[in-house]
Amino acid sequence: MSFTVAIDGPAAAGKGTISKAVAAHFGFAHLDTGLLYRAVGAKVIAGAEPIAAAETLDPVELENDRLRTPEVAQAASEVAVIPQVRDALIAFQRTFAARDGGAVLDGRDIGTVICPDAPAKLFVTASAECRAERRFQELLGKGMDVSLEQVIADVKERDARDRSRATAPLLPAEDAVLLDTSDLTIDEAIAAAINIVQNARS
Ligand code: DC
Repeated sequence: MSFTVAIDGPAAAGKGTISKAVAAHFGFAHLDTGLLYRAVGAKVIAGAEPIAAAETLDPVELENDRLRTPEVAQAASEVAVIPQVRDALIAFQRTFAARDGGAVLDGRDIGTVICPDAPAKLFVTASAECRAERRFQELLGKGMDVSLEQVIADVKERDARDRSRATAPLLPAEDAVLLDTSDLTIDEAIAAAINIVQNARS
């Protein structure tokens, strides 16, 4: 039996942590769909043409720690504007979502475009400052040389582009449950998300 959990939201709102925890709790598979766009972005940085990079993407290319850099995040957000890039990535995501045993997909357009019929949809948000501070701490923890100002500017620029693009913009599905994590600890945010999914299952 398939059961799809769609988790969308802006950069660094806590989607990744929440999605992994929800997947582990229910025994579902997890796909971070941002990695697909990051992998295409990384290939473009290396000189590839975006649409060809998306059409030839191999899932093996998702397992690469270098996809987590701010430079690749910006490139991902830029290739994500191109409708043919998005189209090339749809089938992989829908197949993943339909797998037996349940799946959690996190991204920007899962509840609106990729899986509009998902029985459980969450839209995870937090204030821009809060998200930038979290992403800053995460990058520092990975030993990256970044300033808080730079991270705030990056997060805001990426949000603006993700929200304003014509195809599949970042936006809550009408039937998504909003979860603002600004004032929640990680454990509180995870508990709230598990609760929302549990309600959708029963
Ligand atoms: O979730 P992330 O920060 O790894 O995503 C990187 C970029 O990829 C994001 O700025 C926009 C794009 N993206 C998208 O357009 N649609 C998705 N479902 C996931 C990510």
